[in-house]
Amino acid sequence: MSIQIPRGTQDILPGEVEKWQFVEDTAKEICRTYQYKEIRTPIFEHTELFQKGVGDTTDIVQKEMYTFEDRGGRSLTLRPEGTASVVRSFTQHKMFGQPNQPVKLFYNGPMFRYERPQAGRFRQFVQFGVEALGSEDPAIDAEVISLAMTLYKKLGLKSLKLVINSLGDKESRISHRTALINHFQPRIEEFCSDCQNRLEKNPLRILDCKKDRDHELMKSAPSILDYLNNESKTYFDKVLLYLKELGIEYEVDPTLVRGLDYYNHTAFEIMSSAEGFGAITTLCGGGRYNGLVQEMGGPETPGIGFALSIERLLAALEAENIQLPYENPVDCFIVALGEEAKLKAAVLLQQLRQHSFSADMDYLDRKMKAQFKAADRVHAKYVAILGEDELQKRIINLKNMETGEQKEVAITDFVNQFIQLSK
Ligand code: HAM
Repeated sequence: MSIQIPRGTQDILPGEVEKWQFVEDTAKEICRTYQYKEIRTPIFEHTELFQKGVGDTTDIVQKEMYTFEDRGGRSLTLRPEGTASVVRSFTQHKMFGQPNQPVKLFYNGPMFRYERPQAGRFRQFVQFGVEALGSEDPAIDAEVISLAMTLYKKLGLKSLKLVINSLGDKESRISHRTALINHFQPRIEEFCSDCQNRLEKNPLRILDCKKDRDHELMKSAPSILDYLNNESKTYFDKVLLYLKELGIEYEVDPTLVRGLDYYNHTAFEIMSSAEGFGAITTLCGGGRYNGLVQEMGGPETPGIGFALSIERLLAALEAENIQLPYENPVDCFIVALGEEAKLKAAVLLQQLRQHSFSADMDYLDRKMKAQFKAADRVHAKYVAILGEDELQKRIINLKNMETGEQKEVAITDFVNQFIQLSK
Protein backbone atom coordinates (compact mmCIF):
# COMPACT_ATOMS: atom_id res chain seq x y z
CA MET A 1 0.00 0.00 0.00
CA SER A 2 1.18 3.53 -0.68
CA ILE A 3 2.19 5.70 2.25
CA GLN A 4 -0.79 7.25 4.02
CA ILE A 5 -1.15 10.41 6.10
CA PRO A 6 -0.42 10.02 9.88
CA ARG A 7 -3.44 9.44 12.13
CA GLY A 8 -5.09 12.61 13.40
CA THR A 9 -3.77 14.82 10.60
CA GLN A 10 -5.40 15.95 7.39
CA ASP A 11 -4.60 17.24 3.94
CA ILE A 12 -6.50 20.35 3.03
CA LEU A 13 -7.06 20.22 -0.68
CA PRO A 14 -8.14 22.86 -3.19
CA GLY A 15 -11.91 23.15 -2.89
CA GLU A 16 -11.62 22.92 0.89
CA VAL A 17 -8.65 25.23 1.40
CA GLU A 18 -10.68 28.23 0.18
CA LYS A 19 -12.84 27.88 3.29
CA TRP A 20 -9.72 28.02 5.45
CA GLN A 21 -8.46 31.08 3.62
CA PHE A 22 -11.82 32.83 3.97
CA VAL A 23 -12.03 32.12 7.71
CA GLU A 24 -8.42 33.07 8.34
CA ASP A 25 -8.74 36.28 6.32
CA THR A 26 -11.90 37.17 8.26
CA ALA A 27 -10.07 36.55 11.56
CA LYS A 28 -7.17 38.77 10.46
CA GLU A 29 -9.53 41.51 9.37
CA ILE A 30 -11.28 41.45 12.74
CA CYS A 31 -7.89 41.63 14.48
CA ARG A 32 -7.13 44.72 12.43
CA THR A 33 -10.28 46.42 13.71
CA TYR A 34 -9.45 45.43 17.31
CA GLN A 35 -5.79 46.45 16.87
CA TYR A 36 -4.23 43.02 17.53
CA LYS A 37 -0.93 42.53 15.68
CA GLU A 38 0.30 39.22 14.31
CA ILE A 39 3.11 37.30 16.00
CA ARG A 40 4.80 34.18 14.59
CA THR A 41 6.75 31.93 16.93
CA PRO A 42 8.54 28.63 16.20
CA ILE A 43 6.62 25.37 15.81
CA PHE A 44 8.97 23.73 18.32
CA GLU A 45 10.26 25.06 21.62
CA HIS A 46 12.29 23.78 24.55
CA THR A 47 10.17 21.14 26.33
CA GLU A 48 10.66 23.00 29.58
CA LEU A 49 8.61 25.92 28.26
CA PHE A 50 5.42 23.87 28.19
CA GLN A 51 6.19 21.97 31.40
CA LYS A 52 6.49 25.31 33.15
CA GLY A 53 3.92 27.25 31.18
CA VAL A 54 1.08 24.81 30.57
CA GLY A 55 1.72 22.94 33.84
CA ASP A 56 3.21 19.61 34.88
CA THR A 57 -0.10 18.18 36.10
CA THR A 58 -2.08 18.82 32.92
CA ASP A 59 -3.08 16.12 30.43
CA ILE A 60 -1.30 18.10 27.72
CA VAL A 61 2.09 17.86 29.44
CA GLN A 62 1.62 14.42 30.96
CA LYS A 63 0.19 12.60 27.96
CA GLU A 64 -0.11 14.62 24.82
CA MET A 65 3.15 16.27 23.86
CA TYR A 66 5.23 15.38 20.82
CA THR A 67 8.60 15.53 22.52
CA PHE A 68 11.87 14.53 20.90
CA GLU A 69 15.56 14.89 21.34
CA ASP A 70 17.39 16.70 18.57
CA ARG A 71 20.82 15.70 17.33
CA GLY A 72 22.40 18.02 19.89
CA GLY A 73 20.70 16.17 22.74
CA ARG A 74 18.20 18.95 23.54
CA SER A 75 14.65 18.05 24.49
CA LEU A 76 12.29 19.85 22.14
CA THR A 77 8.50 19.73 21.84
CA LEU A 78 6.13 20.53 19.00
CA ARG A 79 3.98 23.29 20.45
CA PRO A 80 0.70 21.94 21.86
CA GLU A 81 -0.72 25.48 22.20
CA GLY A 82 0.29 29.08 21.57
CA THR A 83 0.13 30.99 24.84
CA ALA A 84 3.38 29.70 26.39
CA SER A 85 5.31 30.58 23.23
CA VAL A 86 3.78 34.05 22.99
CA VAL A 87 4.59 34.75 26.63
CA ARG A 88 8.13 33.45 26.12
CA SER A 89 8.56 35.75 23.12
CA PHE A 90 6.98 38.70 24.95
CA THR A 91 9.47 38.21 27.79
CA GLN A 92 12.50 37.46 25.60
CA HIS A 93 11.94 40.57 23.46
CA LYS A 94 11.08 42.73 26.49
CA MET A 95 7.81 43.76 24.91
CA PHE A 96 6.74 44.90 28.39
CA GLY A 97 9.02 47.91 27.82
CA GLN A 98 7.31 48.89 24.57
CA PRO A 99 5.56 52.29 24.64
CA ASN A 100 2.35 50.83 23.25
CA GLN A 101 0.64 49.00 26.12
CA PRO A 102 -1.12 46.68 26.48
CA VAL A 103 0.58 44.52 23.85
CA LYS A 104 -2.19 42.94 21.76
CA LEU A 105 -1.13 39.98 19.65
CA PHE A 106 -2.71 37.32 17.48
CA TYR A 107 -1.43 34.09 15.92
CA ASN A 108 -2.66 31.44 13.57
CA GLY A 109 -0.81 28.20 13.07
CA PRO A 110 -0.53 24.45 13.63
CA MET A 111 -0.45 22.93 17.12
CA PHE A 112 0.25 19.31 18.03
CA ARG A 113 -1.29 17.07 20.66
CA TYR A 114 -1.12 13.31 20.90
CA GLU A 115 -4.83 12.83 21.56
CA ARG A 116 -7.27 10.12 20.52
CA PRO A 117 -8.46 11.34 17.13
CA GLN A 118 -12.19 11.72 16.61
CA ALA A 119 -14.56 14.24 15.04
CA GLY A 120 -13.23 17.68 15.98
CA ARG A 121 -10.10 16.28 17.63
CA PHE A 122 -6.89 16.07 15.65
CA ARG A 123 -3.24 15.50 16.42
CA GLN A 124 -2.30 18.44 14.26
CA PHE A 125 -4.79 21.28 14.29
CA VAL A 126 -4.69 24.99 13.55
CA GLN A 127 -5.30 27.45 16.34
CA PHE A 128 -6.19 31.06 15.80
CA GLY A 129 -5.62 32.86 19.08
CA VAL A 130 -5.11 36.26 20.65
CA GLU A 131 -3.19 37.37 23.73
CA ALA A 132 -3.43 40.79 25.38
CA LEU A 133 -0.54 41.41 27.77
CA GLY A 134 -0.04 44.25 30.19
CA SER A 135 -3.53 45.18 31.33
CA GLU A 136 -5.65 44.04 34.20
CA ASP A 137 -8.73 45.93 33.16
CA PRO A 138 -11.96 43.90 33.07
CA ALA A 139 -12.72 45.80 29.84
CA ILE A 140 -9.99 43.89 28.06
CA ASP A 141 -11.36 40.53 29.24
CA ALA A 142 -14.61 41.54 27.60
CA GLU A 143 -12.78 42.78 24.50
CA VAL A 144 -11.03 39.43 24.04
CA ILE A 145 -14.30 37.53 24.41
CA SER A 146 -16.03 39.97 22.09
CA LEU A 147 -13.35 39.43 19.44
CA ALA A 148 -13.98 35.68 19.41
CA MET A 149 -17.76 36.12 19.35
CA THR A 150 -17.49 38.69 16.55
CA LEU A 151 -15.54 36.23 14.41
CA TYR A 152 -18.10 33.45 14.89
CA LYS A 153 -21.03 35.78 14.29
CA LYS A 154 -19.48 37.44 11.26
CA LEU A 155 -19.13 34.01 9.70
CA GLY A 156 -22.82 33.43 10.33
CA LEU A 157 -22.85 31.09 13.36
CA LYS A 158 -25.97 31.43 15.49
CA SER A 159 -26.00 28.48 17.87
CA LEU A 160 -23.33 29.70 20.26
CA LYS A 161 -23.08 29.55 24.00
CA LEU A 162 -20.55 31.52 26.02
CA VAL A 163 -19.75 29.87 29.33
CA ILE A 164 -17.75 31.86 31.84
CA ASN A 165 -16.29 31.38 35.31
CA SER A 166 -13.82 33.02 37.64
CA LEU A 167 -10.94 31.08 39.11
CA GLY A 168 -10.12 34.02 41.35
CA ASP A 169 -6.76 35.38 42.46
CA LYS A 170 -4.08 33.50 44.38
CA GLU A 171 -5.69 34.01 47.78
CA SER A 172 -9.09 32.78 46.57
CA ARG A 173 -7.50 29.80 44.89
CA ILE A 174 -5.62 28.79 48.01
CA SER A 175 -8.78 28.68 50.11
CA HIS A 176 -10.63 26.84 47.35
CA ARG A 177 -7.74 24.39 47.09
CA THR A 178 -7.97 23.55 50.77
CA ALA A 179 -11.72 23.01 50.43
CA LEU A 180 -11.18 20.72 47.44
CA ILE A 181 -8.58 18.63 49.28
CA ASN A 182 -10.91 18.27 52.27
CA HIS A 183 -13.72 17.28 49.93
CA PHE A 184 -11.91 14.62 47.91
CA GLN A 185 -9.35 13.24 50.37
CA PRO A 186 -11.63 10.89 52.37
CA ARG A 187 -12.64 9.01 49.19
CA ILE A 188 -9.69 9.64 46.91
CA GLU A 189 -9.04 5.90 46.43
CA GLU A 190 -12.31 5.77 44.41
CA PHE A 191 -10.67 8.02 41.82
CA CYS A 192 -8.23 7.25 39.01
CA SER A 193 -4.50 7.28 39.63
CA ASP A 194 -4.14 10.63 37.84
CA CYS A 195 -6.63 12.22 40.22
CA GLN A 196 -4.88 10.65 43.23
CA ASN A 197 -1.66 12.26 42.09
CA ARG A 198 -3.41 15.55 41.49
CA LEU A 199 -4.93 15.76 44.97
CA GLU A 200 -1.88 17.35 46.55
CA LYS A 201 -0.29 18.86 43.47
CA ASN A 202 -3.29 20.51 41.88
CA PRO A 203 -6.72 19.41 43.11
CA LEU A 204 -8.50 21.77 40.70
CA ARG A 205 -7.39 19.42 37.90
CA ILE A 206 -9.58 16.66 39.42
CA LEU A 207 -12.64 18.65 38.32
CA ASP A 208 -11.38 18.40 34.75
CA CYS A 209 -10.87 14.60 34.81
CA LYS A 210 -12.53 12.82 31.90
CA LYS A 211 -12.53 9.38 33.59
CA ASP A 212 -14.12 10.37 36.89
CA ARG A 213 -16.50 12.90 35.44
CA ASP A 214 -19.59 11.10 36.80
CA HIS A 215 -18.40 10.42 40.34
CA GLU A 216 -20.91 11.79 42.85
CA LEU A 217 -18.24 13.85 44.62
CA MET A 218 -17.73 15.83 41.42
CA LYS A 219 -21.19 17.36 41.53
CA SER A 220 -20.97 18.27 45.19
CA ALA A 221 -17.41 19.65 44.96
CA PRO A 222 -16.93 23.11 46.49
CA SER A 223 -17.53 25.84 43.92
CA ILE A 224 -14.77 28.36 43.34
CA LEU A 225 -17.37 31.12 43.23
CA ASP A 226 -18.01 30.56 46.96
CA TYR A 227 -14.33 31.12 47.69
CA LEU A 228 -13.68 34.30 45.73
CA ASN A 229 -12.40 37.12 47.89
CA ASN A 230 -13.89 40.58 47.47
CA GLU A 231 -11.37 41.76 44.91
CA SER A 232 -11.84 38.70 42.71
CA LYS A 233 -15.58 38.93 42.99
CA THR A 234 -15.60 42.62 42.08
CA TYR A 235 -13.33 41.89 39.12
CA PHE A 236 -15.60 39.12 37.87
CA ASP A 237 -18.71 41.27 38.28
CA LYS A 238 -17.11 44.01 36.19
CA VAL A 239 -16.25 41.57 33.39
CA LEU A 240 -19.88 40.41 33.38
CA LEU A 241 -21.09 44.02 33.34
CA TYR A 242 -18.95 44.79 30.30
CA LEU A 243 -20.28 41.70 28.54
CA LYS A 244 -23.81 42.74 29.27
CA GLU A 245 -23.22 46.25 27.93
CA LEU A 246 -21.65 44.78 24.79
CA GLY A 247 -24.75 42.65 24.27
CA ILE A 248 -22.89 39.36 24.71
CA GLU A 249 -25.00 36.72 26.38
CA TYR A 250 -23.27 34.40 28.82
CA GLU A 251 -23.86 31.62 31.28
CA VAL A 252 -21.83 31.45 34.50
CA ASP A 253 -20.62 27.90 35.09
CA PRO A 254 -18.73 27.43 38.36
CA THR A 255 -17.49 23.99 37.21
CA LEU A 256 -15.55 25.40 34.25
CA VAL A 257 -11.87 24.99 35.15
CA ARG A 258 -10.08 24.64 31.77
CA GLY A 259 -7.34 22.12 30.99
CA LEU A 260 -4.28 24.32 31.46
CA ASP A 261 -2.69 25.43 34.71
CA TYR A 262 -1.96 29.08 34.06
CA TYR A 263 -5.41 30.53 34.56
CA ASN A 264 -6.72 32.85 37.23
CA HIS A 265 -9.74 35.17 37.36
CA THR A 266 -11.65 34.94 34.06
CA ALA A 267 -11.96 31.56 32.33
CA PHE A 268 -14.33 31.00 29.44
CA GLU A 269 -15.33 28.69 26.64
CA ILE A 270 -17.54 29.17 23.63
CA MET A 271 -19.55 26.12 22.67
CA SER A 272 -21.64 25.22 19.68
CA SER A 273 -25.21 24.32 20.54
CA ALA A 274 -26.03 23.39 16.94
CA GLU A 275 -27.99 20.19 16.53
CA GLY A 276 -25.90 17.47 15.01
CA PHE A 277 -22.61 19.02 16.11
CA GLY A 278 -20.39 16.21 17.42
CA ALA A 279 -19.77 15.18 21.01
CA ILE A 280 -17.04 17.77 21.43
CA THR A 281 -18.86 21.06 21.55
CA THR A 282 -16.15 23.46 22.69
CA LEU A 283 -15.15 25.77 19.88
CA CYS A 284 -12.95 28.18 21.77
CA GLY A 285 -11.26 28.40 25.16
CA GLY A 286 -9.45 31.14 26.98
CA GLY A 287 -8.87 33.07 30.11
CA ARG A 288 -6.64 35.26 32.23
CA TYR A 289 -3.11 34.23 33.22
CA ASN A 290 -1.68 36.96 35.44
CA GLY A 291 1.30 35.00 36.78
CA LEU A 292 2.62 33.48 33.57
CA VAL A 293 5.00 36.21 32.38
CA GLN A 294 6.69 36.21 35.77
CA GLU A 295 6.90 32.43 35.68
CA MET A 296 8.76 32.77 32.39
CA GLY A 297 11.27 35.12 33.98
CA GLY A 298 9.66 38.44 33.04
CA PRO A 299 8.26 41.19 35.25
CA GLU A 300 4.84 40.78 36.80
CA THR A 301 2.49 41.31 33.86
CA PRO A 302 -1.17 40.43 33.55
CA GLY A 303 -2.45 38.68 30.44
CA ILE A 304 -5.58 37.29 28.86
CA GLY A 305 -6.33 35.48 25.62
CA PHE A 306 -8.13 32.69 23.85
CA ALA A 307 -7.55 30.13 21.14
CA LEU A 308 -9.94 28.41 18.78
CA SER A 309 -9.31 25.79 16.17
CA ILE A 310 -10.19 26.40 12.57
CA GLU A 311 -11.16 22.71 12.29
CA ARG A 312 -13.92 23.04 14.88
CA LEU A 313 -15.02 26.40 13.48
CA LEU A 314 -15.49 24.84 10.04
CA ALA A 315 -17.32 21.89 11.59
CA ALA A 316 -19.68 24.32 13.34
CA LEU A 317 -20.32 26.14 10.06
CA GLU A 318 -21.15 22.82 8.46
CA ALA A 319 -23.47 21.84 11.31
CA GLU A 320 -25.35 25.11 10.78
CA ASN A 321 -25.37 24.65 7.00
CA ILE A 322 -23.53 27.89 6.35
CA GLN A 323 -21.94 28.37 2.93
CA LEU A 324 -19.04 30.78 2.88
CA PRO A 325 -19.21 33.37 0.11
CA TYR A 326 -15.82 32.69 -1.42
CA GLU A 327 -15.16 32.23 -5.10
CA ASN A 328 -12.28 32.54 -7.49
CA PRO A 329 -13.68 32.24 -11.00
CA VAL A 330 -11.49 32.64 -14.04
CA ASP A 331 -12.03 36.09 -15.54
CA CYS A 332 -10.68 35.09 -18.92
CA PHE A 333 -9.83 31.74 -20.44
CA ILE A 334 -7.89 31.97 -23.70
CA VAL A 335 -8.67 29.26 -26.21
CA ALA A 336 -5.55 29.18 -28.40
CA LEU A 337 -5.13 26.90 -31.40
CA GLY A 338 -1.71 26.28 -32.86
CA GLU A 339 1.85 27.15 -31.85
CA GLU A 340 1.78 30.78 -32.90
CA ALA A 341 -1.57 31.46 -31.23
CA LYS A 342 -0.32 29.84 -28.02
CA LEU A 343 2.73 32.04 -27.96
CA LYS A 344 0.55 35.12 -28.35
CA ALA A 345 -1.88 33.81 -25.71
CA ALA A 346 0.95 33.36 -23.20
CA VAL A 347 1.87 37.03 -23.55
CA LEU A 348 -1.76 38.17 -23.25
CA LEU A 349 -2.24 36.00 -20.15
CA GLN A 350 0.76 37.64 -18.55
CA GLN A 351 -0.65 41.11 -19.27
CA LEU A 352 -4.10 40.19 -17.93
CA ARG A 353 -2.55 38.81 -14.75
CA GLN A 354 -0.47 41.95 -14.32
CA HIS A 355 -3.78 43.81 -14.28
CA SER A 356 -4.95 41.45 -11.48
CA PHE A 357 -7.31 39.40 -13.63
CA SER A 358 -7.35 35.67 -13.06
CA ALA A 359 -6.61 34.18 -16.43
CA ASP A 360 -5.73 30.78 -17.79
CA MET A 361 -5.32 28.77 -20.98
CA ASP A 362 -5.07 25.18 -22.16
CA TYR A 363 -1.78 23.37 -21.59
CA LEU A 364 -2.74 20.00 -23.05
CA ASP A 365 -2.95 20.89 -26.74
CA ARG A 366 -6.64 20.09 -26.76
CA LYS A 367 -9.05 20.70 -29.62
CA MET A 368 -11.26 23.78 -29.61
CA LYS A 369 -14.30 21.95 -28.20
CA ALA A 370 -12.32 20.42 -25.35
CA GLN A 371 -10.79 23.80 -24.54
CA PHE A 372 -14.28 25.32 -24.31
CA LYS A 373 -15.25 22.52 -21.95
CA ALA A 374 -12.21 23.27 -19.80
CA ALA A 375 -13.23 26.94 -19.70
CA ASP A 376 -16.73 25.91 -18.63
CA ARG A 377 -15.43 23.72 -15.85
CA VAL A 378 -13.60 26.65 -14.25
CA HIS A 379 -16.66 28.93 -14.73
CA ALA A 380 -14.75 31.35 -16.95
CA LYS A 381 -16.57 34.67 -17.31
CA TYR A 382 -15.05 35.32 -20.71
CA VAL A 383 -13.47 33.09 -23.30
CA ALA A 384 -11.02 34.67 -25.75
CA ILE A 385 -10.60 32.69 -28.95
CA LEU A 386 -7.36 32.92 -30.83
CA GLY A 387 -7.23 30.55 -33.82
CA GLU A 388 -5.52 30.74 -37.19
CA ASP A 389 -8.25 32.92 -38.71
CA GLU A 390 -8.11 35.35 -35.82
CA LEU A 391 -4.32 35.49 -36.01
CA GLN A 392 -4.45 36.34 -39.70
CA LYS A 393 -6.97 39.10 -39.07
CA ARG A 394 -5.00 40.18 -35.96
CA ILE A 395 -8.13 39.94 -33.84
CA ILE A 396 -9.49 37.99 -30.92
CA ASN A 397 -13.05 36.74 -30.57
CA LEU A 398 -14.13 37.57 -27.08
CA LYS A 399 -17.18 35.73 -25.78
CA ASN A 400 -19.14 36.66 -22.67
CA MET A 401 -20.03 33.25 -21.29
CA GLU A 402 -22.96 34.52 -19.28
CA THR A 403 -24.80 36.36 -22.07
CA GLY A 404 -23.35 34.47 -25.04
CA GLU A 405 -22.45 37.82 -26.66
CA GLN A 406 -19.37 37.73 -28.84
CA LYS A 407 -17.26 40.54 -30.23
CA GLU A 408 -14.10 40.98 -32.25
CA VAL A 409 -11.29 42.90 -30.60
CA ALA A 410 -7.93 43.88 -32.10
CA ILE A 411 -5.15 41.83 -30.51
CA THR A 412 -3.15 44.98 -29.81
CA ASP A 413 -6.11 46.50 -27.97
CA PHE A 414 -7.29 43.32 -26.28
CA VAL A 415 -6.13 43.97 -22.72
CA ASN A 416 -7.44 47.56 -22.77
CA GLN A 417 -10.79 46.40 -24.06
CA PHE A 418 -10.93 43.70 -21.43
CA ILE A 419 -10.30 46.23 -18.68
CA GLN A 420 -13.12 48.42 -20.05
CA LEU A 421 -15.51 45.48 -20.27
CA SER A 422 -14.79 44.39 -16.72
CA LYS A 423 -15.54 47.76 -15.13
P1 HAM B 1 -7.35 24.86 24.82
O1 HAM B 1 -8.69 24.86 25.47
O2 HAM B 1 -6.43 23.77 25.11
O3 HAM B 1 -6.68 26.26 25.17
O4 HAM B 1 -7.55 24.93 23.26
C1 HAM B 1 -8.27 25.98 22.66
C2 HAM B 1 -9.06 25.48 21.48
O5 HAM B 1 -8.22 24.76 20.59
C3 HAM B 1 -10.17 24.50 21.80
O6 HAM B 1 -11.32 25.15 22.26
C4 HAM B 1 -10.38 23.84 20.46
O7 HAM B 1 -11.11 24.70 19.58
C5 HAM B 1 -8.96 23.78 19.91
N1 HAM B 1 -8.37 22.45 20.11
C6 HAM B 1 -7.70 21.99 21.18
N2 HAM B 1 -7.29 20.72 20.99
C7 HAM B 1 -7.71 20.38 19.75
C8 HAM B 1 -7.61 19.20 18.95
N3 HAM B 1 -6.94 18.15 19.38
N4 HAM B 1 -8.17 19.20 17.71
C9 HAM B 1 -8.83 20.28 17.26
N5 HAM B 1 -8.96 21.42 17.97
C10 HAM B 1 -8.41 21.47 19.19
C11 HAM B 1 -5.48 26.68 24.74
O8 HAM B 1 -4.82 26.12 23.89
C12 HAM B 1 -5.04 27.99 25.34
N6 HAM B 1 -3.69 28.31 24.83
C13 HAM B 1 -6.02 29.09 25.01
C14 HAM B 1 -5.63 30.41 25.56
C15 HAM B 1 -5.04 31.41 24.91
N7 HAM B 1 -5.79 30.79 26.81
C16 HAM B 1 -5.30 32.01 26.94
N8 HAM B 1 -4.82 32.40 25.80
